Amino acid sequence: MEVFPNTILSPMDGVTDAPFRRLCRVLSGNRMGLLVSEFVPTDGDAVFCLDGHKQLKFFPEERPFGVQIFGRFPDKMAVAAQKIAEALRPDFIEVNAGCPAPKVAGKGSGSGLLRDLPRLQEILHEVRGTLDSCSVNLPLTLKCRIGWDSDSINVMETLRIAEGEGVEMLTVHGRTRLQGYNGLADWDWIGKVVAAAKIPVIGNGDVNSVEVARERIETYGVAGVSIGRGAMHNPWIFGQIADAWEGKPAHEITAVEALDVFPLYYKFKLEDGSTELGALGRLKQLAARLCKGFCLDGSDDAAMQVRQALLTAQTAGEFFDRLQTLREGVARDMHYDPGRLVNLNGAKETELRFGDQFLGR
Ligand SMILES: Cc1cc2nc3c(=O)[nH]c(=O)nc-3n(C[C@H](O)[C@H](O)[C@H](O)COP(=O)(O)O)c2cc1C
Repeated sequence: MEVFPNTILSPMDGVTDAPFRRLCRVLSGNRMGLLVSEFVPTDGDAVFCLDGHKQLKFFPEERPFGVQIFGRFPDKMAVAAQKIAEALRPDFIEVNAGCPAPKVAGKGSGSGLLRDLPRLQEILHEVRGTLDSCSVNLPLTLKCRIGWDSDSINVMETLRIAEGEGVEMLTVHGRTRLQGYNGLADWDWIGKVVAAAKIPVIGNGDVNSVEVARERIETYGVAGVSIGRGAMHNPWIFGQIADAWEGKPAHEITAVEALDVFPLYYKFKLEDGSTELGALGRLKQLAARLCKGFCLDGSDDAAMQVRQALLTAQTAGEFFDRLQTLREGVARDMHYDPGRLVNLNGAKETELRFGDQFLGR
């Protein structure tokens, strides 16, 4: 399968639904590399049922597209993989061994599997076996973290198991489960996995510009980069990387152009059946990230004002009235430079501590 550029829009639950993926595709000239669904739970249903999992919705133009599943029961994961493969025929199925959320990891799935590698192996074995025996034989991929905590880093073991079970691509998020999304990803570990791997390894964590993508690929030898929060700060990033690979000059996005993504995103959300209020929530989610790239004369103050104006809008009408005022006013003098953000975490503390999984946090 030819994939260009060598990027993946990292799956982000509650963010990378079909309208967000469509926004990134349009802004990037349809040059997205691989796309993946938000993760789909398999533990809940007595027998996995396609209905009711809105994350499964994707469009032909999104291909190559993978569906990511998570769970802790090998048989349920296998049934889900089979039903998804046969009914929807995505281009690959991915198993999630990275989610740190207490309600997932604390129950032994997502990154909880990194504390129980025999179970992860059984899941991969069952899913691979099912995919081999069903009418469509799809590639199986795995996304993992480097380990549960800094005392139990086991990503080399995960690689060995994945390769042994026929996984065809491994995406490594260079953080432990305990880190949550805090601090910076440890790319040295990703590099070690690449050096030992026979399958393509995708690096993930903190890629937020063409320069960082290039540096990660050249320094660590990854086959590609998976970009999550960086795409919320800069939804043009995939096209910018594609341009760089094709030797095209960098196209600088102006602050006004950046503001113009909001009507487009709103339209895509409504076309997807979202309510006005639901769509407004997503506009604000994107604004909270994207506006951090704004600056005026090297200062963040004006960006804070833009952000504040958009985030406090009560209705979509109010949001767009304010947007128009900003567009015709302060945004004309502002710059948009998302690459200046190194830590994509923002102000929110997302570190998880031992014991959190038992407190239901
Ligand atoms: C809001 C949010 C939701 C996420 N949901 C998923 C998910 O469904 N599946 C998954 O594999 N990773 C998920 N992740 C992790 C991202 O795919 C990615 O691994 C992580 O954000 C690190 O990459 P980044 O530094 O480029 O953001 C999520 C991350 C965030 C912030």
